Amino acid sequence: MAPKLLITRRLPPDAEVRAARDYLVENNRDDSLWNNAQLIAHAAGKDALLVTVTDKLDADTINRLPPTVKIIASFSVGTDHISLEAANARGIAVTNTPDVLTDATADIALLLILGAARGAAAGTAAIREATWANWAPTGMLGISLTGKRLGILGMGRIGRAVARRARAFGMEVHYHNRHKVEGEGEAIWHASLDKLLAVSDILSVHCASTPQTRGLLNAKTLARLPKGAIVVNTARGDIIDDDALIDALSSGQIAAVGLDVFNNEPNIDPRYRTLPNAFLLPHLGSATLETRNAMGFRALDNLDDFFAGRRPRDALTS
Ligand code: DGY
Repeated sequence: MAPKLLITRRLPPDAEVRAARDYLVENNRDDSLWNNAQLIAHAAGKDALLVTVTDKLDADTINRLPPTVKIIASFSVGTDHISLEAANARGIAVTNTPDVLTDATADIALLLILGAARGAAAGTAAIREATWANWAPTGMLGISLTGKRLGILGMGRIGRAVARRARAFGMEVHYHNRHKVEGEGEAIWHASLDKLLAVSDILSVHCASTPQTRGLLNAKTLARLPKGAIVVNTARGDIIDDDALIDALSSGQIAAVGLDVFNNEPNIDPRYRTLPNAFLLPHLGSATLETRNAMGFRALDNLDDFFAGRRPRDALTS
């Protein structure tokens, strides 16, 4: 008999069709957000869970999952919503969906860089609110990307894809990563975050959210950026301290931000909405139909491997 699979959110149609072909699926028909008690109740009797970033699988929730659950396949590259330690301790496998969302997320990072540098939030507001008086030689002047130094914090797959795009815009690429990355000859490696910050006209965040990176961009570190720098985040909101970033935006230490991810999504700090130099998107990094289907397929590939007795290619637990 096919394994029993709980899918906690609606997936794009092609991924749902494939899941229903190969598994006995329970779907979340109305795509509502389940709290942890509801998730645990729906997991009763299931062999596998296909979850995503809106499911908060902390240690307590994992410990209360029914004993039938053998694998959690996350429809996401990030896994900060899952306690890998608790899953490991219970012998539950966990997988994610890297690679397939790299280009879509790098595209959104470039959209944020351009949007922040060229004042897209204020420009869009002027059109929508009919406050655009006339074209002026000194009106709405942004910052050119050509020749600027882009600092990439976290040179993984997405960071490298952003670097490729940035070179096409004539930017000089710098990065900080624990180790120098092979094959990134033209990009300049900085062994410390402080050194990267000092040379970043534009800083783009691409590191994972971990206990070490939470709050990494705070009053102290943001002050190390050149005055008038731009900060862009497509990784996770909790890497940035909102109070510090909003202070820096208000004082002019940071000229503009482009943010796709936030603390406490979707209830973001309301002060961001009032800042004309904040270009904001609602966590759209992987949001193309092609990419979301590919993420669904990748999660299902991992489940197929697991139930065929193979180690899934994206296994994160031992
Ligand atoms: C992820 O995959 O971690 C993104 O945040 C959603 O695509």
